[in-house]
Amino acid sequence: MMEMMEMMEKFGNVTTSGGGGKKKTRLVPSPPPSFRDMGEHAGGRQGHLRGAGYNDPMNAELSPVDVQDRLQAKWVQLQDALATHFGYPVNADFDYSPLWRFLGLPLNNIGDPFTTSSYRINTHDFEREVVDLFSRLTHAPTNDVWGYVTNGGTEGNMYGMFLARELFPDGVVYYSEDTHYSVSKILRLLHIRNIMIKSRPDGAMDMEDLHETVRIHRDVPPIVFANIGTTMKGAIDDLRAIRAVFKDLALHRHYVHADAALSGMILPFVDDPPEWDFLAGIDSVAISGHKMIGSPIPCGVVLARRKHVDRIARNVEYVGSLDTTIPGSRNGLTPLILWFAWQQLGTEGFRQRIRHCLDMADYALDRLRQIGRNPWRHRHSITVVFERPSARLAHRWQLAVQDDIAHIITMPQTTRDMVDRFVAELAQDTMDPREDFRP
Ligand SMILES: Cc1ncc(COP(=O)(O)O)c(C=O)c1O
Repeated sequence: MMEMMEMMEKFGNVTTSGGGGKKKTRLVPSPPPSFRDMGEHAGGRQGHLRGAGYNDPMNAELSPVDVQDRLQAKWVQLQDALATHFGYPVNADFDYSPLWRFLGLPLNNIGDPFTTSSYRINTHDFEREVVDLFSRLTHAPTNDVWGYVTNGGTEGNMYGMFLARELFPDGVVYYSEDTHYSVSKILRLLHIRNIMIKSRPDGAMDMEDLHETVRIHRDVPPIVFANIGTTMKGAIDDLRAIRAVFKDLALHRHYVHADAALSGMILPFVDDPPEWDFLAGIDSVAISGHKMIGSPIPCGVVLARRKHVDRIARNVEYVGSLDTTIPGSRNGLTPLILWFAWQQLGTEGFRQRIRHCLDMADYALDRLRQIGRNPWRHRHSITVVFERPSARLAHRWQLAVQDDIAHIITMPQTTRDMVDRFVAELAQDTMDPREDFRP
């Protein structure tokens, strides 16, 4: 117990007070200190509390040694977490240390990356190159596409829905049951009418249900939110069939947004991909940067047909730029990261990376089959679905679970050894998803 108290005191969970008399010990909530607290304690910098923790925010600094200890402890914990990280699509195999010096700058990519800005400590030039690269990967029409580096897939999806709503204020958004949970929040925020379409058991949008639902609402333009790789099952919605629905119902005004969060960096590098990009007539697409490319800071790219973006652009004198993006201040480091990743790997490097991920997915399928967990995956997908294990095992391997399934995602850092360790533990698992387990 004593040891525990010492550790908690060191890491700021315990405070001691009561000079001279009996020491009182109390547990306090975690940091950070709030400005309100700082106001209350203004003027009371009492050096003797230095290192004691976060109870008094004006005296919150730890000693340099304690700071190092604290950071080291966090580092070890994160390394540990990485070793059993198998359920989420993030690449951890990167080295951006040549970019460290940029951390010393107040980078801010505020404004439109394609126009000048009065704030020039930015990386707009690199951001434009990143947008150009993604335009080529998605077969965007030259000179008719615009984009920017976002904070991730969610912001890119919101951007696509924003453009669609501005184009068709009376439109209805159709999205499948398997769509990422953030999309219904986006639609609520944007106040767009929307209808959820049934999914097939493999996770793709049910085209019969889409056809029937759009038919009933054919007096308003359809806006289809299409999944290019669903979160849980890696399913790809059939863009050709979506176009056929519009044609069959003689609907000439429509919008399709593609959510290609993970698969947008897989499909450009495989042979014979399904239709998924601008060649398939989409109006906008969102791709995450921290997923297949990998980044210590979440990021992504959104691309849209320029004519849609022109409708929402507003000139802002304060920043001397066009207000075409959702956030004001924007990350200037992530365009450098995405640009650097591409310089490191290029087309051939990414092709090899995707080959490795798909090989690992096949290896995991084989191994999971051997222990009878009924695994499956979609073609070109690195999401391997299998029967839901116990909550204990799901927690240990950081698995995403839903209903009676779970998945692993074989990312660049996945090795045969990792698959073997996982499968060995799964083979011993009680497999009772209802088992009471609290981490
Ligand atoms: C299909 C899909 N869309 C959107 C998102 C959200 O992306 P982000 O976490 O980059 O905001 C995810 C995240 O896993 C996803 O799988």
